[in-house]
Order: sequence, then structure tokens, then C-alpha cells
Amino acid sequence: MEKRGKFITFEGCDGCGKSTQLRMLSEYLTKENVAHIFTREPGGGKISEAIREILLSGKNSEMTDECEALLYAASRVQHLSDRVEPALSEGKLVICDRYVDSSFAYQAYARGLGMDFVGKINAYATEKYPPDVTIFIDLTPEEAFKRKHGADENDRLEQAGMQFHKNVYAGYKQLAQDNPQRIVCIDGRKTPAEIFADVVKTLQEKGCL
Ligand code: TYD
Repeated sequence: MEKRGKFITFEGCDGCGKSTQLRMLSEYLTKENVAHIFTREPGGGKISEAIREILLSGKNSEMTDECEALLYAASRVQHLSDRVEPALSEGKLVICDRYVDSSFAYQAYARGLGMDFVGKINAYATEKYPPDVTIFIDLTPEEAFKRKHGADENDRLEQAGMQFHKNVYAGYKQLAQDNPQRIVCIDGRKTPAEIFADVVKTLQEKGCL
């Protein structure tokens, strides 16, 4: 039987440099012939991408916080079944751009829904599919926004403003403190090459590469 693959998630505030790191990792894994898939949340399959559109559309500003949290959780369950489970069972490395910690940071902490509610609706994911490693690119929203060229004004989440993003960041810091074995913080103020060296080192140390 094929050895089960490892599940790696990437987290951070909007504009923290996650996409650049994921691109670099993709090139690296291809070059090294490591069997892997890249995927993202919310989205990553037909149904999950449809839910993503509802969540991120600027037209849905009347959505309640609870509805938002439930849609993220629903999209996650579908995505686990469509993309994550098949790849893990084939022994592939699964790299996911955002996962449950995003729901904890954005919905539980920043929207104020609390860890209890968000934890309950995500129990399927946290119990059946805990990530082997979570890489948190640690960059404050102030620094992230300075770097980002022109935010997309249709993005409902980015309309939420700086205080919201500061709360997201505080949520991530708390999560990292509470889960030191799983969540590895990487200093997002370094250059992309330096950050990438830290990413590879972390994945090697955790037995993922
Ligand atoms: P996206 O454009 O993919 O942002 P990024 O490139 O920063 O990952 O949009 C994803 C947005 O969804 C992002 O602002 C974080 C938010 N989000 C949540 O609020 N809760 C969640 O559970 C997830 C997965 C994402």
C-alpha cells in the first residue's frame, strides 16, 4: 500500500507574500521530482469554487458572519473530499493555500464568532484532516498593505479595513502560540529568497521533504 502523503498548509494575512512562496515551492518540488499537488481554500474544485465566488463577491455584503463561517466550512469539507483525500491516499504531498486556521483567525477572532462556534463547525476537518505542518508567514497587516499594489475594491474582505486585518493578525499569533508543534512562524519581513530557505528547512525538519 502507498504511504500516505503529508498535508501542509500555508497561512498569513492578506498580502503577506504567501503566493510568492507557493510559486517558488511549486518550482522547487517539480525540479526535485516530488509528487505533490497545490490547492487552495476557499476553492479547489467545482463546488468549492462556486462557494468561493459567493464568499468573495462584493455583491454579498449583507451576508451574516455565521453564514460566512458555515460556507467556508462547507467548502472545506467538499474540498477535502475532491482534492485532498485522493492526493494523500496516492502518497502525494498536499500543499494548501489556507485551511482551518484561516477560519479561526478571520471568523473566530476577527469577526468575533469565537473559537467554540468555529471549532464546532470545522470539527470534521480538524479531527479527520489535521495538517502535518502549518507555515505561518508572519507579516503585520500594516507591512503587508504597504507592499500590496492596489487592492481589489470588489473584494468584500479587503473592504473590511485595517482594524479587521489587525485582529486577523492577532488571531494568528494566538493560534501559533497555542499550537507550537504544528504551526511554524516564518518572518515575513525577510526577502522572498530568505523566506523560501526557511520554508524548505522547515519542511525538511518536519519530515515532509
Ligand atoms: P484570496 O483572494 O484567496 O486571498 P489570499 O490570496 O490572501 O489567500 O481570498 C481568500 C480570502 O478568504 C482571504 O481574505 C481570507 C479569507 N478566508 C476566510 O476568511 N476564512 C477562511 O476559512 C478561508 C479559507 C479564507
